[in-house]
Amino acid sequence: MNDSPSTKNTYEGKAKTVEVLSDEKVRIIFTDRISAGDGAKLDTIPGKGKMNLTLSNRLMEVLEEAGIPTHLLERESETTIIARNLRILPVEVVVRNIAAGSFSRRYGVKEGEELAQPFVEFFVKDDKLHDPLIDRDVVVQMGLVPRDKLELVQARALQVNRVFTDYFSRGGMVLVDFKLEFGEDKEGHIWLADEISADSMRVWDAQTMEKLDKDRFRKDLGDVLAGYKVIMDRLDGIGGYSPEKQRMEVVVTIEPKHSVTNPGGEVTKRTLLNSGMGGIKDVRLGKTVNITVEDSSDPKWLDKLNQICKEILTNPMVETYTLGFR
Ligand code: TMP
Repeated sequence: MNDSPSTKNTYEGKAKTVEVLSDEKVRIIFTDRISAGDGAKLDTIPGKGKMNLTLSNRLMEVLEEAGIPTHLLERESETTIIARNLRILPVEVVVRNIAAGSFSRRYGVKEGEELAQPFVEFFVKDDKLHDPLIDRDVVVQMGLVPRDKLELVQARALQVNRVFTDYFSRGGMVLVDFKLEFGEDKEGHIWLADEISADSMRVWDAQTMEKLDKDRFRKDLGDVLAGYKVIMDRLDGIGGYSPEKQRMEVVVTIEPKHSVTNPGGEVTKRTLLNSGMGGIKDVRLGKTVNITVEDSSDPKWLDKLNQICKEILTNPMVETYTLGFR
């Protein structure tokens, strides 16, 4: 969502309005506005706001059950929710299972071609630049998101994809791709934010491959809301859905500081030299600890992990560590 402040406490997005209620809470108003092509195509579809809110809340509730923390606090009315007040990260996160849209155009891959594995892309939120695709190293180097948070966000996005591909397939639908946004609270905890609806995903009927999402609007394929309603009805038809808890693998990489001697590295260096390998200046030996986390639903678990890394897994006098997530 590309928000621009319209009053001190209100941010007007393309399809939603956000009112800041306090340091902790915002009200998000789901409007009937719809836009495509970076605002080139605009319209209003009566009932769309209500429909998107209903689907978005349903999907966020499913994600919460799967152990993925979201910003949703409560449904306030048919078109408004109360959510956590977050600083939205300046990148959009797109997960793709099947080639379509800008991916097909960018790489010349035929729409509908299944990708070998789910694929995560980042787009920088910048209206003037038209939200371009951005390399993850550039995201980090430009200081937009630190590397560990970006990796956490990517791992979360893949968790979301696992839950949704299963959920939608049970409703006879194919999840082609979707866009997520994440936000950070004052303590630096990451929450899934914004909305997840037929505006922000591509969903096809598994039998006919009929498009049920916002591509109906982008490409003038007929009644937009009718497609959105099919998605909702199909998910309703599944009945109660209990997703599997999503595990998270954390890789702690521990490296010796350059300022301290590293006896293990010295021994390895001698071994390499004795084996006839020349051109070696220095060898340093570190270690990795792979931790599979069963339940990472409380965003504070990352604080605990950092504390354990500092106090138990490493000796901060002689070692540094980085975290990776998958
Ligand atoms: P794309 O193929 O146009 O890059 O879009 C990928 C997915 O992300 C698609 O499901 C639509 C969604 N999306 C948004 O929700 N908002 C956006 O601004 C863009 C560009 C895509």
